[in-house]
Amino acid sequence: MHTVTFEDKENFPLETDKPGATILETALKHEYPLYHLCGGNAKCTTCRVFITKGLDHLSPRNEREQTLAERKGWPSEIRLACQTEAFGNVSLRRIIKDNKDLKTVTSESKSSKTGEECYAVILFLDIKGFTAFTEASLPYDVVFVLNRFFHEMSEPILNNGGEIDKFIGDGILAFFQIRNKSEAIKNEDHLKKVKQETIGSAIRACLRMFDQLKKFNLEMKDRFNFTFDIRIGLHAGNVIYGDIGHSEYKSQTVLGDTVNVASRLEALNKKTNTNFLVSDEIYNLIGPSLSVNKKIITKLRGKSEKMTAYSVLGFKVSDSILIIQKSLDHVLENNPHWAQGFLDKLINFIKENLNKNTIETEALLNPHEFSSLIESMIEKLGNPESLKKEVSKIKSIYESIGISKKDFPKLVPILISSIKENLASEWNTTLESIWNQVIMDLTIETIEA
Ligand code: FES
Repeated sequence: MHTVTFEDKENFPLETDKPGATILETALKHEYPLYHLCGGNAKCTTCRVFITKGLDHLSPRNEREQTLAERKGWPSEIRLACQTEAFGNVSLRRIIKDNKDLKTVTSESKSSKTGEECYAVILFLDIKGFTAFTEASLPYDVVFVLNRFFHEMSEPILNNGGEIDKFIGDGILAFFQIRNKSEAIKNEDHLKKVKQETIGSAIRACLRMFDQLKKFNLEMKDRFNFTFDIRIGLHAGNVIYGDIGHSEYKSQTVLGDTVNVASRLEALNKKTNTNFLVSDEIYNLIGPSLSVNKKIITKLRGKSEKMTAYSVLGFKVSDSILIIQKSLDHVLENNPHWAQGFLDKLINFIKENLNKNTIETEALLNPHEFSSLIESMIEKLGNPESLKKEVSKIKSIYESIGISKKDFPKLVPILISSIKENLASEWNTTLESIWNQVIMDLTIETIEA
């Protein structure tokens, strides 16, 4: 005999003499109200309960429950009553008690996160002086410029593995989660390494945002006689992550003290006359690789303890992805039509080596599209997942003009020489070896795609 106790305003201890009966079976036997819309088939999740005591008296999750729990990011205490067998006393709480709870749960999509804790780097960005632009401009221009700005600033986040949480007024809240959690918890050293890599990606995204801002400002100066500046706060730690909102308007949101600290660091920039402040958590993990120009000991609003913030200028040790991205910026500044030169060389290669009708081939190659594709590949070097799509695109272009996989490596020196021609005096041996390495790696990926 054991007892399954439903905790509510008062406790309802339900006794059963059947070891291994599911929690749902016991509830139904006692006519205790527990939602079970799919009839106990692990499909609706409306029977979910939160175990407060006796977790070790329960059967482990079966495959169906485990799949659902992983997809939704449930902690071990959340169980499906219809799949969970009890072998001893347990206490639990119903999660869905009425129709309003039911509506919240049934509005979850298959991949909805219902509450998960994870380690993440939180990025807060705000535009300096946007109110002045708003006051001096037409509403159409304000919306247009803000959308362009958000696009330019979001790209480095997405291209470095980050996710946008939301756009808040003229600001952005974004986060970078530890990518492979199961791998990350192998051991402490590995966890530290994964944290450092995630922070490195977030810092690279921020530095790239400042680069993008320079380009954006050139255009804004030209079109609106206005330029903008940004302030960024970066902090890392545990956050709660889930789909939050009205049942019909939910979005993935990060919550918790880590988010508040990042937001306050962003705001602190105003007082300290800085643009990019990171917390001590970040500095403690990758400080030696950062170049900083100010150390600020401060008490953030709402905090009792003092903390140290660091004003970041860049990486101390050069970051090959950033180097190559900046050098492509220079290629485009020097010659926006650089891709035509590369395509001319490509046509010559086809003429001399592949015995093909190059008039047809020329018609298939658009220098503007080609330049955008190379730009996009270089920008996505920090995000292997999105890079794959670009790699497949270039593979189909090459194949459509009759270049086979075995010839892809022969195109590396052709592309490098086109880049080199357009960098002239900026070209040096370090840059050459980085470009060679990156283009060769991309070529291997293209062959394997
Ligand atoms: S009753 Fe539907 S999942 Fe348990």
